[in-house]
Amino acid sequence: MSDASGPTVRPFPALPAGFRFGAATAAYQIEGAHDEDGRGPSIWDTFSHTPGRTLGGATGDIACDHYHRHREDIALLRGLGVDGYRFSIAWSRLLPRGTGPVNAKGLDFYDRLIDELLAAGIAPAVTLYHWDLPQALEDRGGWRVRETAEAFAQYAALAAERYGDRVERWITLNEPYCSAFVGYAEGRHAPGAQEGSGALAAAHHLLVAHGLAVRELRAAGAREVGITLNLDRLHAASDRPGDLAALRRAEVLHNEVWTEPLLAGRYPGHEAETWSGLADGPWRRPGDLEVIGEPLDFLGINYYRPVTVAAAPHRTDDPELRTAVDIGVAETDPYGTRHTTMGWPVVPAALTELLLDLHARHPRLPPVWITENGSAEDDTVAPDGRVHDTDRIAYLADHLTAVADAVTAGADVRGYFAWSLLDNFEWARGYGQRFGLVHVDYTSLTRTPKDSYDWYRGLITAHRARTEESTP
Ligand code: FCB
Repeated sequence: MSDASGPTVRPFPALPAGFRFGAATAAYQIEGAHDEDGRGPSIWDTFSHTPGRTLGGATGDIACDHYHRHREDIALLRGLGVDGYRFSIAWSRLLPRGTGPVNAKGLDFYDRLIDELLAAGIAPAVTLYHWDLPQALEDRGGWRVRETAEAFAQYAALAAERYGDRVERWITLNEPYCSAFVGYAEGRHAPGAQEGSGALAAAHHLLVAHGLAVRELRAAGAREVGITLNLDRLHAASDRPGDLAALRRAEVLHNEVWTEPLLAGRYPGHEAETWSGLADGPWRRPGDLEVIGEPLDFLGINYYRPVTVAAAPHRTDDPELRTAVDIGVAETDPYGTRHTTMGWPVVPAALTELLLDLHARHPRLPPVWITENGSAEDDTVAPDGRVHDTDRIAYLADHLTAVADAVTAGADVRGYFAWSLLDNFEWARGYGQRFGLVHVDYTSLTRTPKDSYDWYRGLITAHRARTEESTP
């Protein structure tokens, strides 16, 4: 695909008129300025500054320095011609300690960002929580305790009151699976805990936080309100009963913990210990399912790759971990396709399957937005000054075609945000993975649009021309 003859030609996918295109980022991954203008520390500051937690000890202290270069980044978005930009607010810029005194300079930063986006004709889509819990709240128990959900609702109210008149779309949480299970059970992400009940409590409190925030956002007159999940397209390694049982356990932990309470007003099926842990935990209070099940205007889906699972021996004797991370499942990789530098198999058809399956399972499914999709590649700036990321172009084209296929088959998908506008801090993997449409040199902080940036701009222009022509 990356031979000398240049980019593989892919026809632009035929998406419906009105389909919207965007690009996405998250605060800790791009902003830098970690201790400027009154920003308080978050769990990712603490985690990344703890030796051994991130690749090469990388931190988000500077990242892409977007805090100081946001005008340049907005110009890049304008050049791309996107309809929308998904970014996240750093909770600890607005409320340095998570609750209590408001930081006016933090509020002003996002005010400027939003106003400048609107002036560029780009609709802001705001994620309230992309994993960067104020450290002060973690010190009081973090997502293990209900007070954090209540604090989140107050933060949501503050943001909605200030920006609600200008923000098109609100995403309460990004991938709560990662916050709860990768952060509190696996420990690969901040706060780096390895607990069973702590992770289940976190999952429940994240869901409650979401529901409480939806109520605050609506009370403040927010327009479109939703949540972003990283639902997995799961396959079983074989039809053997053990593998099928492993598949069910993984479906509960990865998907149904979220989709059942959010979309069906109930906890997931009884097959997995995760369920009983969640449903019977002391953290549960009467009325919680009603809070969590507040109707959504849209559901955000982040998709990168499918996952195949097989039965595997438990790794620990800890009954608690067996509910939250050590669930007797191993991932296998039968896909036999190209893999990105993350080691993820490239399987666009699994995105079509995921969207259609969701549609079939949930009568209450609201319109879906793909809030992240993209690929990490081994990008370098060539002698001609360009980045020839032909594999990324193929990835994006094929996944947009997969979305178009799902729409043709009846799924209601309204928009797509490419991950990411910029190369950035890829969490525990530091700066070793490049997902951007724009290359960032981390020494000079120079931005260089890649070939995929031009390709995406061409796609958006062609889509508009084609659908405007056909609209009477
Ligand atoms: C998602 C995260 C996003 C980015 C991509 C690659 O899980 O939401 O911040 O790191 O993965």
